[in-house]
Amino acid sequence: MESNKWKKRFFFCFVQCIFSIMFFILFGSKGNSTEKIPQRSELTFRPESSQLTILLWTWPFNYHFPLNDCPTDLDSSGCFFTVNRSLYPSANAVIIHHREVYKNKSILPQIPRPTNQYWIWFNKESRSHSPNLHIMENFINLTMSFRADSDIFTPYGRLERNDGSQNFTIPVKSKLVAWVISNWNKNSKRYKYYSKLKKHLNIDVYGSKTKVLSHTNTLETLSQYKFYLAFENSIHEDYITEKLWSNSLLSGTVPVVLGPSRKNYERFIPSDSFIHVEDFSTPQKLALYLLELDKNDERYRQYFNWRSRLQPMKNRIDWVSDYCRVCKVLKEAPPYKTIPSIDTWFR
Ligand SMILES: *[C@@H]1O[C@H](CO)[C@@H](O)[C@H](O)[C@H]1NC(C)=O
Ligand SMILES: *[C@@H]1O[C@H](CO)[C@@H](O)[C@H](O)[C@H]1NC(C)=O
Ligand SMILES: *[C@@H]1O[C@H](CO)[C@@H](O)[C@H](O)[C@H]1NC(C)=O
Ligand SMILES: *[C@@H]1O[C@H](CO)[C@@H](O)[C@H](O)[C@H]1NC(C)=O
Repeated sequence: MESNKWKKRFFFCFVQCIFSIMFFILFGSKGNSTEKIPQRSELTFRPESSQLTILLWTWPFNYHFPLNDCPTDLDSSGCFFTVNRSLYPSANAVIIHHREVYKNKSILPQIPRPTNQYWIWFNKESRSHSPNLHIMENFINLTMSFRADSDIFTPYGRLERNDGSQNFTIPVKSKLVAWVISNWNKNSKRYKYYSKLKKHLNIDVYGSKTKVLSHTNTLETLSQYKFYLAFENSIHEDYITEKLWSNSLLSGTVPVVLGPSRKNYERFIPSDSFIHVEDFSTPQKLALYLLELDKNDERYRQYFNWRSRLQPMKNRIDWVSDYCRVCKVLKEAPPYKTIPSIDTWFR
């Protein structure tokens, strides 16, 4: 058995050697002015020998997008992204998106894992919407999620220093409170809070069941409101989604948040940039506060002071940027490890 294994290894090295020599003969003469510039289609076909191959085991939610088209600030040079499973044996990392594989472990690669290959668990949903976490035991090497302690941190948004090239002006306000909601789960914490809050002030509700918002003018519509209810569907550490980043901050409204603790939000955004439902003992008191701010422009404007220092950033196309982040981490050659239980970690 042992000697067979070594024979195989030797054979493999030998084949690799032949390929390297052929490669050198074919492409070794750099700097030649007649050098052909590869076309995009060729580039996406297979990795160059020096590149790290990153295999997406599935498309997330079966949503397809252009690979190898990363924003320049994410430094993805030296990486090749692919969904071609034939490249599994030589892939440096395999990204396993939870949603498509959670039903059955047999959907995962069944061929033995090459040495040195990282298996990366990727998830953007909260624990409440991530079934079967217990099957992810003892085979994942790196985590990738909105949790700040992930090996690859993929938040829904972020703040950047404002360099003064685009100073923020508060959009013209004509309305008070907006909420966008499509999943009306009447048992959820957010629905219960909303039903109490609406008794004391007027809330405009958008979404598939009420007023439909078109994608093209969502931010413009929401920007007319003074406040936006950034209520998360479930409460988990660091689980702060586009409801805050896009619907509130990018649209230029003041977020009223329901999610993890105020302290948790303050790890990502300034304490004076948002209102937390926990700041008030009852929904009625929150309503009174919002009505008060509505009458006091100067106090309302203070919720925008931070914008002279910082500005919210949106991921160019969410999924693309998320995957692109893998490259930089991989290039730093993270230490080998195995996550004993995703179920225990991902609370
Ligand atoms: C996948 O990769 C293999 C091996 O490089 C190649 O032969 C095949 O054509 C690729 N398939 C696609 C769809 O690109
Ligand atoms: C998973 O899939 C395999 C092969 O298709 C099947 O034999 C097995 O029963 C499935 N397991 C579960 C828990 O569904
Ligand atoms: C933004 O404000 C800063 C500080 O007041 C000022 O120096 C800068 O010129 C402004 N930039 C623009 C584009 O108006
Ligand atoms: C990944 O985890 C597996 C399973 O425990 C382990 O055999 C492998 O060495 C680990 N690889 C890396 C790159 O951490």
